[in-house]
Amino acid sequence: MPEAKVAIVTGGSSGIGLALARLLLTRGWRVAIAGRDAARLRAASDALGARENLLTIPADVGDTPQARRVVRESVARFGRLDALVNNAGFAPLMPIEQGDDAFLDSVYRVNTLGPAAAIAEAWPTFTRQRSGVIVNVSTYGTKDPFPGFFAYAAAKAAAESMIRSVKNEGASIGVRGYAVAPGAVETPLLRGLFGEDAIPASQTLRPEAVAGVIAACCTGETGEANGSVIYLASPGAQGEAPEHDAGAMEAPTLPDVLTDLWRRLERGATERRHPYHQPVVSSMGEDASPRSRTVVLRNADRDGASLVFHTDARSPKCAELRANTALTWTFYDPASKVQLRVRSRAEVLTTGEIVDQRWANTRAMGRRCYLAPRTPGVSVGDQPDPNLPEALRHREPTEQESKPGRANFAVVRCAIESVDWLHLRHDGHRRAQFVFRDRKPDGGAWLAP
Ligand SMILES: Cc1cc2nc3c(=O)[nH]c(=O)nc-3n(C[C@H](O)[C@H](O)[C@H](O)COP(=O)(O)O)c2cc1C
Repeated sequence: MPEAKVAIVTGGSSGIGLALARLLLTRGWRVAIAGRDAARLRAASDALGARENLLTIPADVGDTPQARRVVRESVARFGRLDALVNNAGFAPLMPIEQGDDAFLDSVYRVNTLGPAAAIAEAWPTFTRQRSGVIVNVSTYGTKDPFPGFFAYAAAKAAAESMIRSVKNEGASIGVRGYAVAPGAVETPLLRGLFGEDAIPASQTLRPEAVAGVIAACCTGETGEANGSVIYLASPGAQGEAPEHDAGAMEAPTLPDVLTDLWRRLERGATERRHPYHQPVVSSMGEDASPRSRTVVLRNADRDGASLVFHTDARSPKCAELRANTALTWTFYDPASKVQLRVRSRAEVLTTGEIVDQRWANTRAMGRRCYLAPRTPGVSVGDQPDPNLPEALRHREPTEQESKPGRANFAVVRCAIESVDWLHLRHDGHRRAQFVFRDRKPDGGAWLAP
């Protein structure tokens, strides 16, 4: 039987660290948890109830010699190290101008220097084994720091940067690294800062969910690329968070996949920077060869099982789609590594309430391309020509000027026939397909990827 794997989890006596220790122990790992408070460590040890496979190390990882000692004690006890999870965090809220030197020092010690020292101490063991994983637990705050997290977010950003170095320097010795950056997590650390009135429990992540993502990094089951920062937005969080649901789902069910794909499509339609905002759509050319082009996803309607893009009614694709309504959408998110291919039947609409409404909601700059004097795709001679009215080349049209564009505006509404969901993962890809009848998906089926 292969030797049981070993993880070090700092900040292991509560919150994410405790949930992770529990998860890894149930999977047969041996785990060393480090924490500052000996009494809390003992309570955690009792709660985990694992004697042989658990080592508790009282230590303040904000003190670099102690951070190094944690690694040495664990390696001395277990004889190997497979994952170092720098989870301990110190997240005080402090207005920028009030952060004196002692304060800045304490924040960087726990969140930056401790992890760096532990990584350095673990490296020779990893080099000897020619394997190992580092996970630095960061915060969503590195993307969008809550006021008061000036020092904390910057210190965690440094810990994220370390992971890119781990990837580059670890490549030749089989060492991988990840940063996991959750939003608000239901932990004592969060509740020490914010009450339920500021952040309701319904808007927090469960520590077990975050622990699941970290465990997937430790075991190599994550779909995320080595060296990446895995952002986990809190439920209901504002802003344009990357999608990571599928990566976070260890054993997704078909209903999970259906929920995941609709969430992606809906966010793709509403968030300009979402990776699904600009899919490729393919139709059949009149010469029976496929034609593909990038478009903007304008609407994803779950109840109506339809997707929408806008186009110039004169463009070749409209004629193609009238002759053959088959249209396939291709979406890909390189961060979460989920591809969707949606087969549909397209309807080119140029009149009616939907078209009027969509035109009314289009911004002036968006309307400018519909004022093109020439039919898209025709030859413009021996010089490039942007095909815009001369007066509007460097500005947006006024409401009045944009009106003639309405005649060239078309809405392409596509009734979904089937969706093929593919999630790339290190431990083997997953693929599912849903067939829609009368706008309703069937129960889905797993397919060979
Ligand atoms: C990022 C991006 C977004 C685009 N969005 C649209 C769009 O929403 N609608 C559209 O008709 N063309 C869009 N285009 C242009 C198309 O890709 C294509 O060049 C144009 O529609 C002509 O296609 P056709 O000759 O197949 O009709 C977009 C191109 C890019 C690069």
